[in-house]
Amino acid sequence: MIQPATPAATRSHTQADFSRPPGARRLPRIDRAEGIWLIDTEGNRYLDASSGPVASNLGHGHPRILAAMAAQAKKAVFAYPSQFESEANAAFSERLARLAGPGLDCPFIVSGGSEAVESAIKFLRQHAVVAGEGSRWKVIGRQPGYHGNTLGALAVSGDAHAHEVFGPLLRAVERVPAPMTYRLPPNHTAETHALACAQALDEAILREGPETVLAFIMEPVGGLATGALVAPDAYYAEVRRICSRHGVKLIFDEVMSGAGRTGKFLAADHWPGARPDVVVMAKGLSAGYAPMGAALFPRAMVERVAAAGGFMHGFTYSAHVMNCAVGDAVLAEVEDADLVGNAARMGTLLRGRLDALADASPIIGDVRGLGLLLAVELVADKATKAMIPLERMAPYRVQELALARGLALYCRRTSRGTYGDWLMIAPPLTVTADEVALLTERLGLVLDDYAAELRADGVVAA
Ligand SMILES: Cc1ncc(COP(=O)(O)O)c(C=O)c1O
Repeated sequence: MIQPATPAATRSHTQADFSRPPGARRLPRIDRAEGIWLIDTEGNRYLDASSGPVASNLGHGHPRILAAMAAQAKKAVFAYPSQFESEANAAFSERLARLAGPGLDCPFIVSGGSEAVESAIKFLRQHAVVAGEGSRWKVIGRQPGYHGNTLGALAVSGDAHAHEVFGPLLRAVERVPAPMTYRLPPNHTAETHALACAQALDEAILREGPETVLAFIMEPVGGLATGALVAPDAYYAEVRRICSRHGVKLIFDEVMSGAGRTGKFLAADHWPGARPDVVVMAKGLSAGYAPMGAALFPRAMVERVAAAGGFMHGFTYSAHVMNCAVGDAVLAEVEDADLVGNAARMGTLLRGRLDALADASPIIGDVRGLGLLLAVELVADKATKAMIPLERMAPYRVQELALARGLALYCRRTSRGTYGDWLMIAPPLTVTADEVALLTERLGLVLDDYAAELRADGVVAA
């Protein structure tokens, strides 16, 4: 077993000190990383079971990306996009638009998912003003749902806890229920519940006044907020119909699900009849090798805004030259190594192994997701679906136990865990069958450790 990291006494300040109580056990300190492995300064090795925060899609230390970084660094790292165009920006945008497919022709490139969400909302608002629809400004989101931590992105997220604290700073928007599939209201199937959730969107638009509603934002395959929620197929088509009927733009937040993770380049590609108007991406776009996000828009909309004076938006590091070169190299590798296909194949294998773990474990209530964007939901009782008491902070405890077994898991709760507690299982898209086997073997041991702890405390039946 891996020993606890160095005690607090000798430490310097790190980012972790903003979130961990004073005196808490230190997190391992990263020394180097290669492939699916993260190695700390004590030489302990951790298998990256969730690609950091579902970002490291190519694993670590990928030679092609390191070479692209070095080559670009020797030419130009930074040139401001209102002063110079760059080859790296042109190549990256062209490749991204081709992979994203028709109607998503123009990427606006920023430094992360939250910035990309802000960019999508501001662009759509400015487009509405230019198009003579200035009454439209409201963005409807889902509860639970997550779109980022900047104030605008948080405003459209469905996180009761964050809204308790930051609510006074946010312009409130309507939220409609996300079509959760595990715990259903009485007399509902997953499909009838999902259609009721779509109906709630229609009612919210009518209540607000369709002429005031700008957009609906949703994660087509959920991230941490819902634990890789995949809605029944009928939901997507119905949401698309409702948005079209009311002239409301449909934004898919593919920050986590995009760039191949679900076994298609976009999760949207699983539902071709429900094509969104705008897609937001980040994470896998640069696979953790550079800060990167993008909002993808139809060319006609971009030309309209540009002709009317230009998009009133941007950041110092928009379309950063080095980051674009990294993004282009990452997507080139995704294409050349067929990592989208690998995500589909390894996703099926991993899903089968997680289902087998769930059969054997008293605390896995549900396994869900698509491709390599998977989650397991933890429960105290599989028959009743009773949650593990929230104050036990189950995902964080499992994260700790996992580190001791050489497994790195990503945790973050939405709405204080009131919708349930789950673990994201999302290894790099480069994962092999042997690594899938090792990941699930270690995860099984970790969950056995946790089940034993819960049994000893009487939370889980003996
Ligand atoms: C679905 C989704 N949207 C937006 C974001 C925000 O992205 P970032 O942390 O890069 O700002 C995240 C981050 O986890 C996410 O999962």
